[in-house]
Amino acid sequence: MLKSNAERKLKHLFDGGDWNVYEPNILKLGVGAPGTDIMAANCDNFRAATDHCLEREKRENQSLIFQYGPPSGTFEVRREISTYFTEMFQSPVNSEDLIITTGATQGFHLILSTMLDFEGFVFVDEYTFMVALDMIKHFSTLTIVPVKLNDDGVDLRDLEEQVFKRRFQSKKKEFWGIYYTIPTYHNPTGILFSPEVCRGIVQLARKYDFLVVCDDVYNILSYGEKPTRLMSYDVRTDADFGGHVISNGSFSKVLGPGVRLGWLELPPRLKPIIDGCGFANSSGCFNNYTSGIVGSLFELKLAQKQIAVAYEAYKERMLATTQVLRDELPACCKLVSPTGGYFIWVRIPDQLDCREFLKYCLENHKIYFIVGTRFSADGQSGKQFFRLSIAFYPKEKLVDGARRLCNALKDYIVKH
Ligand SMILES: Cc1ncc(COP(=O)(O)O)c(C=O)c1O
Repeated sequence: MLKSNAERKLKHLFDGGDWNVYEPNILKLGVGAPGTDIMAANCDNFRAATDHCLEREKRENQSLIFQYGPPSGTFEVRREISTYFTEMFQSPVNSEDLIITTGATQGFHLILSTMLDFEGFVFVDEYTFMVALDMIKHFSTLTIVPVKLNDDGVDLRDLEEQVFKRRFQSKKKEFWGIYYTIPTYHNPTGILFSPEVCRGIVQLARKYDFLVVCDDVYNILSYGEKPTRLMSYDVRTDADFGGHVISNGSFSKVLGPGVRLGWLELPPRLKPIIDGCGFANSSGCFNNYTSGIVGSLFELKLAQKQIAVAYEAYKERMLATTQVLRDELPACCKLVSPTGGYFIWVRIPDQLDCREFLKYCLENHKIYFIVGTRFSADGQSGKQFFRLSIAFYPKEKLVDGARRLCNALKDYIVKH
C-alpha cells in the first residue's frame, strides 16, 4: 500500500502515465475525450452564458442558482435539454422524465446504488466500457455476467439464457438484474445495435423484469442516418409497458468532460426512486449551478453551435481514419466501420496477442492504443482486439497514425 499521496500536479486526466497525450514521441490513439481544438470556443461561449445566467439570477431569481436545487434539476434546464433532444432524436424527450446528473459515470453509479438488489446481477456485453466494469466491481456483492456480442448488437439468445439462469425475486430493490450496454456507437466496438436487437432486448427485459441501462453518451454523433435509440422501443402505449429502460446521457463528448453535466431519462415508475433517494435530496440537484449555465448556453444557441462544431470535427476524423484502415489494414484483420461515435475496434489474427503487439508498437513505432482485454470482465478475453479513438487528435495526425499502425501490423504479422 502507498504510504504517501505524492502530488503529481496533473492538469487533466490525460496528462500522465500511459495516457500522457503530451508525450511528444508517442501517438496516443486510445484517448476517448474531445481534443483541445474541439473545445476552443468554450471559454467565450461559457463566459457569455455565465453572464446571461447570472444577470437573470440577480434580476429575477434571487440568486437561486446558488441554492440547493430541486433534486431533478430546475424545470427550465430540463426543458432546454428535452427540447433540443426531441428535435435531435425526432422522438419525444419529456422534461418531466429527466434528472440532471454530473455525467454518465455518476448516472450509472446512481442507478447501481439505488435500483439494484446488492445480491443481484449485472449483465454486460462481452466487451464493454472498462470504467463501467471497474465501477460495478466496487459493488462487491454483485455478479457480473458477460454476454456474447455480435456485429449487430448483443446476442439475444445468449442474453436470454444468462438471464433465465440467474433471475430471482428481489425483496429489497426494484430490480434483481441490470443489463448495462452502449447500444449506439458502442464503446469499445463502435457498433450500432440493430432495431431487431433493440426490440428483442426490450421484450426480454419485460419478460424477466430486469432493467436496461443505455449509456447513451455517443447518441448525438451519428455520421450517417440517425438511428432510433433503444429507449424508444420501450413504447409507453404498449399493453405490457412497465418502464424497463433508462437512458444515461452526457454533454461530456460535445461540450467538454470538465463541464460534468449529464442527465438520466427515466420511465414514470423509476424516476421517484432516484428523485426520492437521500443522495439526490441532500445534493439538491447534483449540479444546480453548472446546469443553469448550460441552460443559458442553450437559450443563447451557443450549445447548439458548439455541438455542431464537435460533430463536424469528429465526423471528419472518423471518415478519414476508417478510410485509411479500410485501404491499408492487412486482409487478415477485421474492421467494422462505425457509423458514429468515437471508437474503432480492430481484430487481428487469433494466433497473435494485442498485448504483445502493443509492446512492439510502443518500442518500434511509438503508437499507443488500448488492448481488448481492458474491456472484458475477466481482463483476459479480448487479446485479439484493440480499440482506437478518433476524438482527441486532428484529422492529419490520426491519418498519419492509422497509416503507421497499419505498417506496424504488416511488419508484426510477417515477423510472427
Ligand atoms: C460508454 C461511456 N459512458 C460514460 C462515459 C463517461 O461519461 P461522463 O463523462 O459523462 O461521465 C464514457 C466516456 O468515456 C463512455 O465511453
